[in-house]
Amino acid sequence: MSTNLVTVAYIAAIVLFILSLGGLSNQETAKRGNLYGIIGMALAIGATALGAGITHYGALVAVIVPGVVIGAFLASRVEMTEMPELVAVLHSFVGLAAVLVGIGNYLQPESGLSSAEATIHMIEIYVGVFIGAVTFTGSVIAFGKLKAIISSKPLTLPGRHLLNIGLLIGTVVLGFVFMNAAGTAGLPALLGMSGLAGLLGMHLVAAIGGADMPVVISMLNSYSGWAAAAAGFMLSNDLLIVTGALVGSSGAILSIIMCQAMNRSFISVILGGFGQGSSAGSSSTAPSGKATATSVAETVELLNDASSVIITPGYGMAVAQAQHAVADITKILRDRGTTVRFGIHPVAGRLPGHMNVLLAEANVPYDIVLEMDEINADFSHTDVVLVIGANDTVNPSALEDPTSPIAGMPVLEVWNAANVIVMKRSLSVGYAGVDNPLFYKDNSLMLFGDAKANVSAILAEMQKTEAKLPAMAGQR
Ligand code: TAP
Repeated sequence: MSTNLVTVAYIAAIVLFILSLGGLSNQETAKRGNLYGIIGMALAIGATALGAGITHYGALVAVIVPGVVIGAFLASRVEMTEMPELVAVLHSFVGLAAVLVGIGNYLQPESGLSSAEATIHMIEIYVGVFIGAVTFTGSVIAFGKLKAIISSKPLTLPGRHLLNIGLLIGTVVLGFVFMNAAGTAGLPALLGMSGLAGLLGMHLVAAIGGADMPVVISMLNSYSGWAAAAAGFMLSNDLLIVTGALVGSSGAILSIIMCQAMNRSFISVILGGFGQGSSAGSSSTAPSGKATATSVAETVELLNDASSVIITPGYGMAVAQAQHAVADITKILRDRGTTVRFGIHPVAGRLPGHMNVLLAEANVPYDIVLEMDEINADFSHTDVVLVIGANDTVNPSALEDPTSPIAGMPVLEVWNAANVIVMKRSLSVGYAGVDNPLFYKDNSLMLFGDAKANVSAILAEMQKTEAKLPAMAGQR
């Protein structure tokens, strides 16, 4: 393939990636956005493979084919609730790839560079390997935390900020050694810096508490983009530079939006500062009040009498896969003339937009699915709120208890409604590991059990009533 043709293909791929990002910003266009991304990536891989520099097609096929098969197999089996773990693993691959590309690039120096170009190239390698190593180990730790292999509590070593500064100073010192080494003599410094950067990535993510993990994931997404962009500079590949910059900047914007949604300071979160409260925090993790249990029959009665209902789903609805039964209940209530809306917290579930995807999959109309800010003022004039498998996102201690690890995080103020029915299996804590005073409020009722079993039982009861209605109308 001629260089001009490769350039045209690269420009087309870049346009497709931008259209893809635009499409993904809205549920209605998300599928189309995904398709643009897939076509763009196929074009990018095809053009790169057919470009001038590639000659060992056997080696290329030998790595791409197993990669495609393993990737397709794992992605098709992964549950929606496991997506953040998958994303963390994929980020770690990008980081590791940037490290390996950097080391490979260093060992095979480009000839014909002027001294200024050679210096810039060395800096590209050093910075690229640094970002890649931080991304790699940080993502591995994030994976461990999300998978609950590692405790989600923040690791707060004494003098941890000094440790981070020490590691950074170490990388700068090794940077001087690397830049002044002749030929490939700087390899030990490059490898040493990779080790220090790896430690830094591990420590930064380990120090972040469970409640702040959503930000960590999007931040690592951003890092992986910058690592890819750095690899693009090393390989003089414009497409990789632009794609990496798109991922890096969109990840950074997403992190900032999530920090704003959780009332967190971005800098503080990425330095592991905010999680501090969750380990040492005075908030209790054990149930600290008396909750009132309710039944399916009583829940159906409350729903039958309600003229307005808000449903606030959370991680438990995703685990139980209760969204289809929830959608059916919604339809019955709406057909009867009851106002039903959904209140979605920005970090409900385990990844951004998790609840929106599940509700869209169950064909819940988009216009009744509202963001937290759009619905929070309406709870006070709502008859019944159904909290389905949500916990941290409806926890009043975020607003009422300044010592809580989630203090200051905006939450769905469900307790302002006349009746709140909380569906979960027990009084146990959510992801952030804090007790929830909502369970003990006078207007709260707990419907214990698996969300799908309970929602299906409610649906069955309501369907029975619906079936009786025409018969009753006929008798009159
Ligand atoms: P959580 O606070 O995690 O609570 C979910 C609740 O669901 C649990 O307390 C659990 O209680 C219940 N549950 C689990 N399985 C269930 C089942 N089969 N049936 C019924 N209930 C079940 O959920 P949330 O309110 O959605 O909050 C999300 C949390 O995850 C936040 O702390 C957030 O920061 C964090 N997080 C979010 C993201 C993103 S980006 N969204 C990423 C990582 C972490 P029982 O065990 O008693 O049933």
